[in-house]
Amino acid sequence: MMFMSKSRIKSSKKNFNPQILAFCCNWCSYAGADLAGVSRFQYPPNIRIIRVMCSGRVDPSFILKAINDGVDGVLITGCHIGDCHYISGNEHTKERFENLFEIIIKQIGLNSDRIRLEWVSASEGRRFADLITEFTKRIKKLGPLKKQNNSNIE
Ligand code: FES
Repeated sequence: MMFMSKSRIKSSKKNFNPQILAFCCNWCSYAGADLAGVSRFQYPPNIRIIRVMCSGRVDPSFILKAINDGVDGVLITGCHIGDCHYISGNEHTKERFENLFEIIIKQIGLNSDRIRLEWVSASEGRRFADLITEFTKRIKKLGPLKKQNNSNIE
């Protein structure tokens, strides 16, 4: 077994480039991401976006699969409450997300800061860019996702 010195650990965390997956609903948050791009708002390039028709389409198993496949953080975004194009899709998302935290995330030992749910409208390009910037900083601070014995992840 190899051990790293404290300064080496610090340096490897500093150079850590997190992989972040974002689920964006087609009607609001994806349009917000698009507006951020068109407006040339800067944000870190660590994010990969999966466009879904509604945040309610994001099954908790997608999040767990992403974590299992090695992403360091997952962001789920959708229309603000009351603005969902499928009326109550985002309300289901909120409920599922709370259950995911309570039942699954705590049980598998995943730091809940690695998963985040946010509402972003089509006109909030700046907000989208700021959200990605802040979330990337948070994940960088946490460091790479470590898997231990397939059950205790941090
Ligand atoms: S359509 Fe955007 S959250 Fe439902």
